[in-house]
Amino acid sequence: MYSEKVMEHFKNPRNVGEIENADGIGEVGNPKCGDIMKMYLKIDGDTIVDVKFKTFGCGSAIASSSMATELIKGKTIQEAMKITNKAVAEALDGLPPVKMHCSVLAEQAIKAALLDYSKKNNITIEGLEDFDPNEDPHDHH
Ligand code: FES
Repeated sequence: MYSEKVMEHFKNPRNVGEIENADGIGEVGNPKCGDIMKMYLKIDGDTIVDVKFKTFGCGSAIASSSMATELIKGKTIQEAMKITNKAVAEALDGLPPVKMHCSVLAEQAIKAALLDYSKKNNITIEGLEDFDPNEDPHDHH
């Protein structure tokens, strides 16, 4: 049911933890399954120099957050904004359909952390104008 990559990232998740004095912190949750994901970003200029996460959730959510951190580390804010839940799932060699919402959490956690960063620094990030981390627009149940 799960790809080897999902199992691997679930067993050995990358970038677990928190960043002290993070520049952006995003926390999102899925009200249906109750899983919560928290993402910490260290941003230098325009580049995400470090990223860590804590996920209280299912294996797919842990694998998705692990993969998401790997995908955005060292990337620019604009590049991170382009990471969709589909990209996360594809990088994991796929997720079962009922588990796609777990990857949505990863996309939203990145965006929530970037939104926090933009608010703290009084900047606007293209694509975040209408983003609401408390909203659950994609429901794949
Ligand atoms: Fe909800 Fe995986 S079951 S995030």
